[in-house]
Amino acid sequence: MTSKASAPGKIILFGEHFVVHGVKAVLCAINKRVTVISKKNKTQNIFIKSSLGENTIAITESIDNIDNMFKPFFFIAKKIIIENNFSNGVDIEIQSEIPIGAGLGSSSACCVATAASISNLFSKPEKNKILELAIEAEQTIFPKTSGADCTVSVFGGIIEYQKDSDYKIIETEHEFNFIIVNSKKSHSTNIVVDRVNKFRTENKEIFNDLYNDESKLIEKAVESLQKFNLETIGKCMSQNQIFLEQLGVSNDQLQEIIKLVEKDTFGAKITGAGDGGCIIALTDKNKKESLLQRIKTEYESYPVTIDKTGMQVFNIT
Ligand code: MEV
Repeated sequence: MTSKASAPGKIILFGEHFVVHGVKAVLCAINKRVTVISKKNKTQNIFIKSSLGENTIAITESIDNIDNMFKPFFFIAKKIIIENNFSNGVDIEIQSEIPIGAGLGSSSACCVATAASISNLFSKPEKNKILELAIEAEQTIFPKTSGADCTVSVFGGIIEYQKDSDYKIIETEHEFNFIIVNSKKSHSTNIVVDRVNKFRTENKEIFNDLYNDESKLIEKAVESLQKFNLETIGKCMSQNQIFLEQLGVSNDQLQEIIKLVEKDTFGAKITGAGDGGCIIALTDKNKKESLLQRIKTEYESYPVTIDKTGMQVFNIT
């Protein structure tokens, strides 16, 4: 049997970085996905293929000897093979529509889709188990992950997420018009998260004030999302951007993009780790196209919609 699974990328509407330290975040799954096709093979190897390269790795290999590019996928495959007492290996092929290192949850979506696809070769995947495995796999390359990105990729929709507590779906039938602008500067989430940790250690009081202000902002943002109050959501996004700038995760180029789109949007901010990556902006449906036209010569930009399905699994015989 060949198994196919897919999982969406994400944008963070509110609370990136702060979520690593315990504040609630609000995330939204988007209509850009990773697809993973897997099948059992008759060798003692795990074969991994993606746009970044391909590798054949013995199942017995230690995870410590594996390149980061393949580590989470090897981890998932090996764990499932051992748990199922399977005597051979698996082939995994990863195809992604999500740009890498851009803050759109590519690595989490890859982990979720890989965990779902390989699990499905042995039994029907259960969402909570896939989430647990995907987070564990992502921790092999990103030890401090809050787990937020994997959670929204598994369940889809708009979610409130707080580390070490349950996630909550924000139910909405409304249409949100977000655009993404890619700065094309890729970032390392690990480096930026470590920098915020250092900022926290060196600026305890400032960090605590920001933590409290961000927590209050998120409450207001959740209420405005539930009421579909676009003006307030946009203002909360702009305020969140100011807090992120104070944390030191923005830069001149990102602020320039925000300025460029601000006058035609309700609000704009970094999404994800910052230090590069993408800007998201909440727009009016009727202004979206003209905004995209206006900036298209300078930046890669596109509209995104909310993905409500989360991870999906298919059997191909
Ligand atoms: C990365 O998409 C979001 C961060 O908050 C890290 C995390 O939540 O794991 C920067």
